[in-house]
Amino acid sequence: MQDKEIYISKLQEQDPDKIADLYAEANSCTENVCGNKVFLRGLVEFSNVCEKDCYYCGVRRSRFQGIKRYTMSAEEIIQCALFAHKEKYGSIVLQSGEVSSKPRIDFVARIIEKIIESTNGELRVVLSIGELPREAYAVLKRAGVSRYLLRIETSNEQLYKQLHPANHSFQRRMQALKDLKDLGYQVGTGVMIGLPGQTLEDLVEDLFFFRDIDIDMIGMGPYLPDKNTPLGQRQQDYNDEQRLTLSFKMVALARLMLRDVNIAATTAMGTLHPRGKEIALTAGANVIMPQITPKQYHHNYRIYDNKVNIALKSMHLDKINKQIAWGEYGDPKHFVKRTT
Ligand code: 5AD
Repeated sequence: MQDKEIYISKLQEQDPDKIADLYAEANSCTENVCGNKVFLRGLVEFSNVCEKDCYYCGVRRSRFQGIKRYTMSAEEIIQCALFAHKEKYGSIVLQSGEVSSKPRIDFVARIIEKIIESTNGELRVVLSIGELPREAYAVLKRAGVSRYLLRIETSNEQLYKQLHPANHSFQRRMQALKDLKDLGYQVGTGVMIGLPGQTLEDLVEDLFFFRDIDIDMIGMGPYLPDKNTPLGQRQQDYNDEQRLTLSFKMVALARLMLRDVNIAATTAMGTLHPRGKEIALTAGANVIMPQITPKQYHHNYRIYDNKVNIALKSMHLDKINKQIAWGEYGDPKHFVKRTT
């Protein structure tokens, strides 16, 4: 069998024992390569204002019902960073909808400088604010950002077109990922799993894509249909259980294929299963991103309906033989290797 067929057959596997074996194999790979530490990234969802209109996303620009648009103040964002620093999270992720104007980039750059200064550089700052011009990525890098998360969403260009309006470009997204890498960022990407029209072959191609672009970090999770979006109203090809199992299998296969990257146990997994993130951590993941956004904003950062944010306190990592890496940056080993 060719590689591709072997991977497809793993995604098709229905035998619970064989699935458990796959997770166990991935877990021992994680432990051999990265140890049993879980890295923390405090997640601040600082604005839901967005210029884009992605068909799957609950904060797309043309959604008006049921959400209020907000942008946190610089002071509020910095307070979150100080909290993450005090709690020894090691890294903070600033995430928002996409806004590419110069004043917005300057606003973010100033906040980053302030965060780095007021935490003595003891906190890695990570951005997840979408597709921006190369020059904006350069400005943000100079301000002190270490990592950038930008999902490709799907590596199948045809499927990408079906998920986005005509003015959103797959090639542009690819260019953004290249720019980030050129500029020296630790780069993360990922996909949604169980989209309408997505095949198991597409998912295997996603894994090859991660390998071929030599990515440092991966964040992926089940697609969650939201009734307020065009894609959520379409006929679905997968149910929640299928999407969740496929997501765990994708984490395991990504670990076995890529070995030294960081892989996140994501919010969408925790939304579909109360122990979803723990399961991912025993199937190849080694990063969690506890949400530290102030409570008053949670309701409006609705990328999808019924989003569940699992508190760090309620996760029992000792039961799965993992330890939190308090105060560590947790840079991906893959990045260290490819840049030294
Ligand atoms: N279901 C799951 N993930 C989603 N995202 C956006 N909308 C959805 C949804 N309906 C993910 C995208 C984006 C990230 C911030 O959230 O992959 O990159």
